[in-house]
Amino acid sequence: MAPKRVLLIVTGGIAAYKALELVRLLKRQGIAVRAVMTQSATEFVTPLSMGVMTEDQVYGDMFDLKEESEIGHINLSRQADLIVICPATANILAKMAAGIADDLATTILLATDKPVLAVPAMNVRMWNHPATQRNLKQLREDGISIMDPDEGAMACGEFGPGRLPEPPDVAARICTMLGQPFDTALTSGRSPTTIPKAFEAQPDFAVGTHRPLFGKRVLVTAGPTYEAIDPVRYIANRSSGRQGFAIAQAAAEMGAEVTLVAGPVHLVTPPGVIRIDVESAMEMQAEVENALPADVAILVAAVADWRAADVPEQKIKKDGNGIPPLTLTENPDILASLALHKLRPKLLIGFAAETEKIVEHATAKLAKKGCDWIVANDVSGDVMGGDNNAFHVVTKDGVESWPDSPKDVIARRLMERIADEFA
Ligand code: C5P
Repeated sequence: MAPKRVLLIVTGGIAAYKALELVRLLKRQGIAVRAVMTQSATEFVTPLSMGVMTEDQVYGDMFDLKEESEIGHINLSRQADLIVICPATANILAKMAAGIADDLATTILLATDKPVLAVPAMNVRMWNHPATQRNLKQLREDGISIMDPDEGAMACGEFGPGRLPEPPDVAARICTMLGQPFDTALTSGRSPTTIPKAFEAQPDFAVGTHRPLFGKRVLVTAGPTYEAIDPVRYIANRSSGRQGFAIAQAAAEMGAEVTLVAGPVHLVTPPGVIRIDVESAMEMQAEVENALPADVAILVAAVADWRAADVPEQKIKKDGNGIPPLTLTENPDILASLALHKLRPKLLIGFAAETEKIVEHATAKLAKKGCDWIVANDVSGDVMGGDNNAFHVVTKDGVESWPDSPKDVIARRLMERIADEFA
């Protein structure tokens, strides 16, 4: 049976990042997803991340003639079994109710004859406003299915209805509308609703109950990235991931809710840490964005600066025609892009592996990347893969140099320093 197809329209709200998780969940259920993003949605989630998740082009600009000629708005709707707007802002609901079609998303919605599900998310006052309630009533009368928002604390600090329902609940509703069963086993481990399990799994403290990072969300990247040359070969580096894993562990032990985005490493997941495995820099960037919002991000991964410009589907053969050329292209700078992100963590920390003029180079990197701290370490010895590390923590206020210590000890010291910053 051909997979069911969802056309996902993402509009611009703080909950837009959850659309990435929704795509993952739908794909696990065997549902094909194609995404359309409004201009304001791209302020919260990059089309690049969405494209990595959907493994497809992301559609956005109605006046992109190439897209219009190849696959116009009518075709986008024709190829879908269901259109889902998630999150749906008050603005798009108002436009739909009024029949306005002034961009690709609203034009699709006005032109479609397919079932439509809107999943609203907005500030509680916007939700309760008579205009929004009037629009919702109109849309229900027009045959649009509307999922009620959740009630609770909102990103804007207020409390009430307006929160986006959790992605597994949205995915379940979509499955129902598509007439296929929703397999909960396929949601395991990665969705926001399973996060409390991570708290349960956190190790208990032998001494006292002091958890200075309780309630804080910490995002850590670790390990190398692998950049494919062809299906069997790749470019890599010598990062073991041990320092990043030690930092993730220290953060979890101090009570934080930790997401660890790990490149290919041979390490055990620390207790209480949500681990997401990736291979390439592009995947790492998508998963980092997917893990937002976070209070602190500590990017320890040794991300490859370049990847192969073209990756053939078949293995490159040694066919006697000489050495094949390897053309590289630049990878995204995850740290620098996080510094500019709408959901930029309050404390953004980068690492700098240096072999000379360590503090000087780290100070320059602080400005260049737009982060708050740079933790510089000297990799001229056997730090990569070794047991010990020495940190120079460079902040806007100066430099703290910490002596050579085992990676877990220095990780705890770093997390204590971070907890002090929040105290
Ligand atoms: O530019 P450089 O690679 O020296 O910067 C190191 C810091 O930037 C680390 O925190 C690393 O995780 C991060 N980085 C990144 N994305 C890249 C390259 C580096 O996030 N493409």
